Amino acid sequence: MERQYTRIDAVRNVLDNDIKAIKDEEVKRCAYVHLYGVGQAAAFIAMKRGYDRVAAELAEVAGMLHDYTKYMYDKEESHAEESALCAKNILMKMEMFSEDEIELICRAIGCHSNKKQEDTYFDEILKDADEMQHYFRNPMEEYYLQKERTQKLISELGVRL
Ligand SMILES: [Fe+2]
Repeated sequence: MERQYTRIDAVRNVLDNDIKAIKDEEVKRCAYVHLYGVGQAAAFIAMKRGYDRVAAELAEVAGMLHDYTKYMYDKEESHAEESALCAKNILMKMEMFSEDEIELICRAIGCHSNKKQEDTYFDEILKDADEMQHYFRNPMEEYYLQKERTQKLISELGVRL
C-alpha cells in the first residue's frame, strides 16, 4: 500500500519550515521534540479515550501547534493565547480544515496553560498530552511525576510505577 499524504503531513510541512528557521539550535531541538511529542501523545490519548481517528488527528494537530509562539519567538508569557491565534492563521491558510475543526483546535491551544482547571474533553486531551510528553521524556524526573495531572494520567493509562 502507498503511503498517504494526510492533513497531519501538510501541517508538518508548514511547521517544519518554521522550526527550521529558528536560529538557536537548542530552542530548535526543543521545538521538534516537544511539539511533535505532544502531537503524538495527544493522538494516543484521544484514541485511548475512545474517540475516533479524526478526533485523534485534530488532537495531534493541536499538539503540534500548541506552543508555537513559545518556540518561534522564544516567549513564555501569553504563549497559549498567541499560539492559538497563529494556529488559526496557519490552519485557515491551508484550507484543509473546517471552521469547526479550527475552532476546536484553537480553543484547546488557547486554554492549555490552565492545567488546574478542567475544560472540554478535547481541551483536556491537549493538556494531558503536554504533561505526558514532559513526564515520559524522562521517567526518572520527579518534577512532572509529582503533578496531579501526571498522576491521574498514569493511573488512567494503567501504568505501574
Ligand atoms: Fe507544551
